[in-house]
Amino acid sequence: MSKKEYLKLLEEIKRHNQLYFDQGMPEITDYEYDLLLKEAEKIEASHPEWVPADTPTCQVQEQPTKGFKQVEHDVPMLSLANTYSREEVADFVARVYKLLEREDVEFCVELKMDGVALSLRYEDGKLVRAVSRGNGRKGDDITANVKTIRSIPHELKGTNIPDLLEVRGEVFIPTKDFAEMNREREEAGDVTWANPRNAAAGSLKLLDATEVAKRKLDIVFYNVITREKILKTQAENHHFLKKMGLPVGSEKHFTVCKSLDEIFAFADRIEKERPSLPFEIDGIVIKVNHLRDHDILGATGKSPRWAAAYKFAPEQAETVIEDIIVQVGRTGVLTPVAELRPVPLAGSTISRATLHNEEEVARKDIRVHDTVMIEKGGDVIPKVVEVIQSKRPKESKPWHMPTHCPICGAKVIRTEGEVAVRCPNRISCGGQNLRRISFFASKNAMDIDHLGPEIVKKLVEIGFVSRLSDLYRLTENELAQLEGFKEKSIHNLLDSLEKSKKVTLARFIFAIGIPYVGEGTAQLLADAAGSMDRLKEMTEEELCEIDGVGDKVAESIVEFFSDEKHSQEIDELIELGVTPTAVHKKITGHAFAGKTFVLTGSLEEFTRTDAANLIKERGGKVSSSVSKKTDFVLVGEDPGSKYDKAKQLGVSILDEKSFKASL
Ligand code: IVH
Repeated sequence: MSKKEYLKLLEEIKRHNQLYFDQGMPEITDYEYDLLLKEAEKIEASHPEWVPADTPTCQVQEQPTKGFKQVEHDVPMLSLANTYSREEVADFVARVYKLLEREDVEFCVELKMDGVALSLRYEDGKLVRAVSRGNGRKGDDITANVKTIRSIPHELKGTNIPDLLEVRGEVFIPTKDFAEMNREREEAGDVTWANPRNAAAGSLKLLDATEVAKRKLDIVFYNVITREKILKTQAENHHFLKKMGLPVGSEKHFTVCKSLDEIFAFADRIEKERPSLPFEIDGIVIKVNHLRDHDILGATGKSPRWAAAYKFAPEQAETVIEDIIVQVGRTGVLTPVAELRPVPLAGSTISRATLHNEEEVARKDIRVHDTVMIEKGGDVIPKVVEVIQSKRPKESKPWHMPTHCPICGAKVIRTEGEVAVRCPNRISCGGQNLRRISFFASKNAMDIDHLGPEIVKKLVEIGFVSRLSDLYRLTENELAQLEGFKEKSIHNLLDSLEKSKKVTLARFIFAIGIPYVGEGTAQLLADAAGSMDRLKEMTEEELCEIDGVGDKVAESIVEFFSDEKHSQEIDELIELGVTPTAVHKKITGHAFAGKTFVLTGSLEEFTRTDAANLIKERGGKVSSSVSKKTDFVLVGEDPGSKYDKAKQLGVSILDEKSFKASL
């Protein structure tokens, strides 16, 4: 490789770093990324004179996140050297033997969780700080977000708790919850996460802890740092963590090995179990068991010499693309999907793979009848990793996105700077319509019982429903014409439709399907606007002023309402009796009026947002820090330092019970 090619490779690695860390949307798998990194490292070993100071092979790349305080780690958070083959593992073990000058070395082997590293500090048994890895030396202070992770105790259990304890582990989202989360995002027209790890990382960086609480984050711990050396081995670390009430992996998922063969036996077992694990792992970690040996072995700039990751290759399978079809989503986005010759992979039979968008198809040059390797990412839907060029039929042609919507035939539109291609026909396109109506009726939207996607399909096909408002025009006579609809089912559905008319403003905003407006955003909009009429007239600037609403969302809202068809649809829904009501009505003359509250700890009956809204409805204000100007501190379970400060300043303290009583 020439120097020019090497520098190009570094640029490519940096580009992937940016996609991964800053945008949370990687284009390549970790495995592919590691191969690029490895290639660069190999060249650097033979041409040290070429290596620029900022080579991405020598830095942990994550940048600080805006909005979080930066905190220095007392003990740096290093990464692990990666190995991909048995030879490389054997080399690692041999190096350890050589450096320790003996061969009776034990290794503690454990799962390599595919998540986000986190360091927690407990002082006198109380959780005081949570910091992300960041660049290894300094990370983001994400304490408020981390406190929402249910399995993290705010106070440790057990006896002999060290006064200062730092514990480290990996935050992750279980595979099932991740799939659910992505389904919801897709429904809401949001971009889906590429894998659970990105979703976890993205969630931890949210600026609103109440939003983080909704993500199904979990954690396992694997490392202990104490001032005094109270533990002797890595295996003891696990037991110690467990004793303190901290979540650790299952007993089956770490073991002490005395030889290379035992390490490989563990690796083989875990690789077999991998498809059925409820979370993602990308390999195993091999650690020298005795902690005193860690001091002898030390670390290189980037990783310790006492540990190595043995990474599994992603599970892949070879199959043929029988066709490429195009799906039209609820918000009109056209998504190419490969229909595959069914093939077993990671515990299920795969017959479809998402091709994401036109750019992705072009980048990998994926064509109908190609033989391809597919791989299961974190998502339930697998993806095409590469095309096996040697097996491509001679007559094959590149694939292109259709110029017209495959469902309604309208000419598709492309927005500059966006990869998505959309059908412009939001209301009348059958594909979008069906999804829009099903979504409108779904549990988290209007919650219309007895109106599942199958019924919606029947209603649309028979021609009784073509717009959202048509649902509220359905008659007994019409429903009686549906196959399988008897008196009871007819009344059930009509009752549910009637009930659904009383709806909160937030649910209604979510239900009408504005692109990029998910449940959380809908709540923010409802709180800020207070009514549908006001929301409709809000400008982009006004929308952007709402905490949590960005440019893209604001633009999408204004565009949505500027379409006459949408405004009319909403007016008709309201005329038919749908009454979206802002929950936060103003209550006048309440004792909370003009008072400033600070909230700390977790409440039993309310979320913090609910409590804050109740205060605001009653004319009170909610502030984030305690000062002399604070009138009340509402204290829940496990209060933080705000409670202590309130006591110090003599601010009135309200517990949940008295808060409830004074509402
Ligand atoms: S030990 C200095 N143990 O892998 C060694 N790390 O590539 C510190 N990880 O930053 C890490 N499972 O985010 C260790 N059982 C495990 C792990 C683990 C996952 C992650 C962690 C670390 C990264 C290094």
